[in-house]
Amino acid sequence: MASYNYSISSVVLLLLMLCTFGSFSTSSAGNFFKDFDITWGDGRAKVLDNGKILALSLDKASGSGIQSKNEYLFGKIDMQLKLVPGNSAGTVTTYYLSSQGPNHDEIDFEFLGNLSGEPYIVHTNVYTQGKGDREQQFYLWFDPTADFHTYSILWNPHTIIFYIDGTPIRVFDNLESHGISFPKNQPMRVYSSLWNADDWATRGGLIKTDWSQAPFTASLRNFKANACVWKSEKSSCKNSSTKPWSSQELDSESQERLKWVHKNYMVYNYCEDTKRFPQGLPQECTFNTTSTN
Ligand SMILES: *[C@@H]1O[C@H](CO)[C@@H](O)[C@H](O)[C@H]1NC(C)=O
Ligand SMILES: *[C@@H]1O[C@H](CO)[C@@H](O)[C@H](O)[C@H]1NC(C)=O
Ligand SMILES: *[C@@H]1O[C@H](CO)[C@@H](O)[C@H](O)[C@H]1NC(C)=O
Repeated sequence: MASYNYSISSVVLLLLMLCTFGSFSTSSAGNFFKDFDITWGDGRAKVLDNGKILALSLDKASGSGIQSKNEYLFGKIDMQLKLVPGNSAGTVTTYYLSSQGPNHDEIDFEFLGNLSGEPYIVHTNVYTQGKGDREQQFYLWFDPTADFHTYSILWNPHTIIFYIDGTPIRVFDNLESHGISFPKNQPMRVYSSLWNADDWATRGGLIKTDWSQAPFTASLRNFKANACVWKSEKSSCKNSSTKPWSSQELDSESQERLKWVHKNYMVYNYCEDTKRFPQGLPQECTFNTTSTN
């Protein structure tokens, strides 16, 4: 009897949860047929396994790419990626959010391949109103080609946080009150692509893509958008400040994780590149909220 009651209430609870989530957030279960369009690559991008997997491929003639059918304005976007294995030097796999037009906003993950056994670099950037130049690069604490890992972008009116398997690697706060622009008004699509960038990705083109290894393949799965869909000039969210991701700030444990990543895995930080900015570092670099000192 007790267990019977228990299961009834679990079902009710489950239904309640489904209803609640269904109405207050557009959270797709992740089907590439439903969520994405293949936009280029002439058949090189393929949806597999009933929509569960998307495989991008690159050969000497072309790479390939996809874009989400929906546009989003704020949310938490997750994607699992398994990167090109073996000798991937010269290849770049991208996963990013972007709006359109000359003053576009963009939030980037790019994965720069390497020779077999040498580490991938995760290259990140944030564009606001068409202006980027905010690169931070990291090595990873695991082999990103051996298995799928979750790469997430949390984007709300206050902050942008890049996560890998739940560990924050980068924070870009809204500093509009100091005159620094922040992506806030332009809805973005989700993009992913695999292409050849051996003219810059290997430290200025040091290593060329080995085409004898082609086709190169990267796989995507479990796309999840806990996000507000922008459609016909309107948001699907009545009040986005009620969302779990809307006020998310890093708790002390996450702050520690972020510091751990920066201390041990950071390769490049534009905010420390005084040679590149002889006129002075970009203004946001002086408001460092994650500073250890
Ligand atoms: C490739 O490996 C070399 C040697 O370990 C390393 O210095 C470099 O940062 C790695 N990544 C890229 C994109 O060159
Ligand atoms: C949205 O929700 C927040 C938090 O619950 C609340 O403080 C705010 O007043 C709401 N805004 C509107 C326009 O309803
Ligand atoms: C802020 O400082 C920390 C520690 O020095 C560093 O890891 C982080 O990258 C800095 N943030 C920016 C945006 O430069």
